[in-house]
Amino acid sequence: MQAKRFAVLAIVIFWLSSLLAAAQTPAKGADAEGHPWWQHAVFYEIYPRSFADSNNDGVGDLNGIASKLDYLKALGVDAIWITPCFPSPQVDFGYDVSDYENIDPMYGTLADFDRLEQEASQRGIHIILDFVINHTSDQHPWFLDSRSSRTSAHRDWYIWRDGKGPGQPPNNWISSFGGSAWTWDRKTKQYYYHFFYPQQPDLNWRNPAVKDAMFDVTRFWYKRGVSGFRLDAVDTLFEDPNLHDNPVVAGKDAYGDPNEVNKYNDNLPEVHDVLRGLREVSDEYNGVLIGETWTDNIEELNRYYGHDHDELQLPMDFLFTMVNKLSPAEFRKQIAAVNSASGWPTFVISNHDIVRSYDRYGDGKHDDQIAKLMAGLYLTLRGTPIIYYGEEIGMKTTPPTRREDVKDPMGRSGWPKEKGRDGERTPMQWDDSVNAGFSKAEPWLPVPPTYKTHNVADELKDPNSVLSFYKKVLALRHTNEALLDGSYVPLNESDQKVLSYLRLYKDQGVLVVLNMSGVWQKVGFDLNKHGFTSAESLVSTEKSSIHRGSGGGNVVTLGPFGVFIGELGK
Ligand code: GLC
Repeated sequence: MQAKRFAVLAIVIFWLSSLLAAAQTPAKGADAEGHPWWQHAVFYEIYPRSFADSNNDGVGDLNGIASKLDYLKALGVDAIWITPCFPSPQVDFGYDVSDYENIDPMYGTLADFDRLEQEASQRGIHIILDFVINHTSDQHPWFLDSRSSRTSAHRDWYIWRDGKGPGQPPNNWISSFGGSAWTWDRKTKQYYYHFFYPQQPDLNWRNPAVKDAMFDVTRFWYKRGVSGFRLDAVDTLFEDPNLHDNPVVAGKDAYGDPNEVNKYNDNLPEVHDVLRGLREVSDEYNGVLIGETWTDNIEELNRYYGHDHDELQLPMDFLFTMVNKLSPAEFRKQIAAVNSASGWPTFVISNHDIVRSYDRYGDGKHDDQIAKLMAGLYLTLRGTPIIYYGEEIGMKTTPPTRREDVKDPMGRSGWPKEKGRDGERTPMQWDDSVNAGFSKAEPWLPVPPTYKTHNVADELKDPNSVLSFYKKVLALRHTNEALLDGSYVPLNESDQKVLSYLRLYKDQGVLVVLNMSGVWQKVGFDLNKHGFTSAESLVSTEKSSIHRGSGGGNVVTLGPFGVFIGELGK
């Protein structure tokens, strides 16, 4: 009897302790405190055409990226997002995919990809691929079959409709790259829908076969070792099945088309079912889903995290990219908004579709200081930053000056109002040798003249360069718990020139002070309120310093556009 009781007790103790152990074991890939890997990672966006050209044909490639992994590691990058490198007619430079499960020969082979993945993983760098889910290329076998006849196996994989009448598309929807969003197909006598170029027909996500095929694509790459995806143009996956006309508002866009509100072909709720499905697959592989989520407000952004945190882990916050001046009040507003979001923030200040931050914020006189200031901001906020290649050396947007030099079709059709996106996609500036060390052949886009003053080799040698500053801030944010996990506490909220905040974690804290003006500033802080008495510089720009004020508080002095990042002391 006694022995039986002991046995039961032992089983209960074993069961309870295993329950306890399970509760304490962090999720797969998470650190001891339960943070998933992507929460502390620094992401870096690579536009493969422009990063590094290993075979000297003027276009960057995967082996080029592999040759720069040590540079990326030393910079403090934990994950690279490579914009589409799959076979493609390159109408939209890769955002028109004709085979989701291969590498475009221009960029290399699957074997090159595997090697890159292995070498990255040896250095602890994750690879994120760009998944173009809204549309394929018109040269994808699925579309070739779809357009071959009205009864083809893939007909319903795309959106085909009859016109309203002879020569009239089914409705008034406008392509975001200009012209009607419908293209007439002579052979099958119907229109197909494309949110972007006619060469980018939209997939019909209401068809379960599309869903299955696309989910399988992600499995294919997860099995090859990728750590997640950046989902392209997620908001445009679904369209109103009844094809209601969009409301037309005053004015014309850069292409001369009437301005429309994309009420019936953007942000439809069905997208969330797809995201939940992709997340289920992703969770099997401990992946991360990042979203190209252009939203107007935080409520919209919140929907992308998912009601039960079961959609995107990192929907990009683009609200920052819409602040186009150095205004502490504007940034405070956006930071507070993103901090109130239901999930972990993702900060982006530049990418391959928008004018670089160097030009959006630069004043032409203090551009490098301002580049450091912006690094001091988005790399010290609560959230995951995504650095666009070249930001770390202060690359300047250099758009073509003549229409005949434009490569981006968006610029060719929108010229001169819309110059396209070539300016922010120019070759990475590695050194001051010919073609900035990017390639021995003439690069596909000209190297900006600034490569003589802004390049990796020179900036590595200069302790005051933009690159050295990025490296210091990134090194700090990898080890400083307050910067990694601390709360965000805004300070001096009525200051119109200086943006200041604390990051507080357990008994540690960091003070960040950013002078968004071109004149010297002195700012006082009462740190006692937060349980601290002093701060000591961790990383700051040359002219920044801190001293005790006469009233016992702390005073930070900053040069024009100066940065002070200091550790709080008790
Ligand atoms: C996304 C990409 C952009 C591309 C478009 C169409 O917005 O970032 O570069 O042109 O989707 O795929």
